[in-house]
Amino acid sequence: MTALKRLDHVAVLVPDLEEALAFWQDQFGLLLDHVETVSSMAVKIAFLPLGESEIELVQPLSEDSGLAKFLAKRGPGLHHICIEVEDIAAKLADLRSRGVRLIDEDPMLMDDGRQLAFIHPQSTGGVLLELYELP
Ligand code: CO
Repeated sequence: MTALKRLDHVAVLVPDLEEALAFWQDQFGLLLDHVETVSSMAVKIAFLPLGESEIELVQPLSEDSGLAKFLAKRGPGLHHICIEVEDIAAKLADLRSRGVRLIDEDPMLMDDGRQLAFIHPQSTGGVLLELYELP
């Protein structure tokens, strides 16, 4: 079985990035690393490192994206957690063979060389789970 390495990030869906940032910075003293706009997903993401992991605050930028619909339906809060694995293709194959429902059958390759895939919450007790393999 391929190894899990660490918790990479916890993603929190927020309607207002500035307001959410103020909370995590002022009440917990977390430092903002950077804010990134991902136009392909119509989101703005703030990255707040915490130990070996990060808290990601995710604000949808368009009304009709999947994330915006999720926010409208469920309200703000935890969206997914992400675990870094050693070999994402092997992990997905392993999960598939055990009947775990995958959202992404194959890892998606990002511009920075990162590979990622999502596991369906139906198979995880309600937690949307993201896997990363870092370059
Ligand atoms: Co994520």
